[in-house]
Amino acid sequence: MIALRNLDVQDKPEITRLMNSENVSRYMTDRVPFPYTLSDCDSFFEFVKNTPNDFFFAITLNNKVIGGLGLHRQPLNSSHVLELGYWIGEEYWNKGYASEAVKLGIQKAFSVEGITKIIARVYSGNSASDKVLFKNGFKEEGFLKEHIMKRGKVYDEKIFGLIKPI
Ligand SMILES: CC(C)(COP(=O)(O)OP(=O)(O)OC[C@H]1O[C@@H](n2cnc3c(N)ncnc32)[C@H](O)[C@@H]1OP(=O)(O)O)[C@@H](O)C(=O)NCCC(=O)NCCS
Repeated sequence: MIALRNLDVQDKPEITRLMNSENVSRYMTDRVPFPYTLSDCDSFFEFVKNTPNDFFFAITLNNKVIGGLGLHRQPLNSSHVLELGYWIGEEYWNKGYASEAVKLGIQKAFSVEGITKIIARVYSGNSASDKVLFKNGFKEEGFLKEHIMKRGKVYDEKIFGLIKPI
């Protein structure tokens, strides 16, 4: 069973092991470098501590951590919006786990007072992530041309959105 729970410092070794993957890092920000070390994970936990208004979860399968999901506050006139991000360890891909985790993430986001919209940003070419969002009701709203530079390669960035049903 897939669930979301708060991160625990004891997750650090497993998160580090799963994140230390070129394929996981490929479509993520440089907060997830490759190789990914325990020191990178320490920095991530420090970031979590210093960002108390955002929401960070471990994705678990039968209580074992297999990935992560974040819901991030947006500035100024977009304070009714949370940005969703997620990843799953490569050995657990293509089993529907991200789709299930995102479903739970949506429930969490819309249970936060005042939140009426969720967005997600996906680098062009990340078709698996597109599918996860479409399956959960997101619509592609547009894209930012050549907006992402990752490992010397330039990507368009697609913006997906989901409005809270009334
Ligand atoms: C994107 C990611 C979270 C998907 O996780 P997952 O648990 O494998 O996702 P699911 O199994 O729920 O669904 C993946 C879907 O994409 C499909 N898929 C997988 N690889 C694909 C590819 N290369 N091209 C097209 N579709 C692909 C699967 O068949 C599945 O679709 P289906 O349910 O119609 O069969 C995972 O690949 C990942 O962590 N990637 C690295 C980090 C990342 O990209 N995060 C998202 C940033 S926006």
